[in-house]
Amino acid sequence: MRMKNVDNRTVIGGGMHGGRVTEYAEMWHHNPAQIVDFSANINPNGPPVSVQQAVAEAMGSVMHYPDARQWQVKQVLAAYHGCSPEQLVVGNGATEVMELLWRWLMPKRTLIFTPAFGEYAAIPRRLRLQVQEIPIPAKLWQDPVAVLNAMGQAKVLPGDLVVFNNPHNPTGTRFTRVQWQATVARWLEKGAWVFMDEAFLDFLSLPEQNATSGVFWADNHRQLAILRSATKVLSIPGLRFGYGITGEKWASQVNQNRDGWSVNSLAQAAATAGFQDQKFFQNTHQWLTEELAYVRQHWEGDPRLQLFPLNVNFFLTRMSTPDMATFVYDQLARQGLFLRSCASFTGLGTEYLRVAVRSRVDNQRLWALVSQLLNGLL
Ligand SMILES: Cc1ncc(COP(=O)(O)O)c(C=O)c1O
Repeated sequence: MRMKNVDNRTVIGGGMHGGRVTEYAEMWHHNPAQIVDFSANINPNGPPVSVQQAVAEAMGSVMHYPDARQWQVKQVLAAYHGCSPEQLVVGNGATEVMELLWRWLMPKRTLIFTPAFGEYAAIPRRLRLQVQEIPIPAKLWQDPVAVLNAMGQAKVLPGDLVVFNNPHNPTGTRFTRVQWQATVARWLEKGAWVFMDEAFLDFLSLPEQNATSGVFWADNHRQLAILRSATKVLSIPGLRFGYGITGEKWASQVNQNRDGWSVNSLAQAAATAGFQDQKFFQNTHQWLTEELAYVRQHWEGDPRLQLFPLNVNFFLTRMSTPDMATFVYDQLARQGLFLRSCASFTGLGTEYLRVAVRSRVDNQRLWALVSQLLNGLL
């Protein structure tokens, strides 16, 4: 089944985001419980027991308003990152934090490198702010240095806001600090603000995180905010939790001008427990290493599809033709497996599909079906 979106490109499954399990079930007449969702990049190992217990306990306090200072969860996040609690802005998902930051900053212009997560353009447009999309050709995303060179050509003016996503959704490209530092420093020197979205970084091993993250640069002297999401790594998209790390003076301005009750007690309890559960993070890192090896072994090298970098808990693939991708998408959907069509990403198209990395059983089932479809056996 195909749907047309507003600019009349074919959008398989419809919409701008993945993870629309209820809609998939309605459109394809499935029982929602039987859907295997590869379209949203949620940790299949979660939510951890520690989070489930904390949420169950927090149910006992839902007759009270949530802590509008988010004091406890900020202590835990500050310890997790080695920053101060005063540097944090927490929100109902990373998306709310972005919206809070955009509203506070009201930048003259937002520069977005496409393809990109849809909310980077949607939020400033909702606020009637100017958005400039800078296309980075799809083939460049195989090479982080080439991407940074292309980003470095953008004309950045004082007062601009530049959005930099690392690891990058939807391409999976990861930029090490050594690679990104000079480019980001130049944007900051020009007087721009930089939002560094690290929503998927917790999935990577600790050495990889340390070699990638910009958290250590967040202070009062740099116009920089780091965005993180617990929604995906703790597997709580039905609760949502995200946060930003920035200079204390910026964070205090944002926190003083917001609705503090938007982060409910259950979400605060979930994140408080989850970010203390080191074992869960270790298990997640181990799982991802093993499953990326599985994906590499089976998907890589197949001449009928092009594979983008395998760094994080999702990967981008390009089928040889849009018709082939549509066929694969439709046949999988018929069986209850949903991929993320990339037709709604500026700069990509129907031939691109994004695939979440899931459990071994699910990953095996997916590859078995995809390889049969490509071989014309189904
Ligand atoms: C790159 C990126 N940043 C941020 C978010 C939003 O995170 P949250 O679900 O916590 O609002 C997403 C969600 O898909 C994302 O892909």
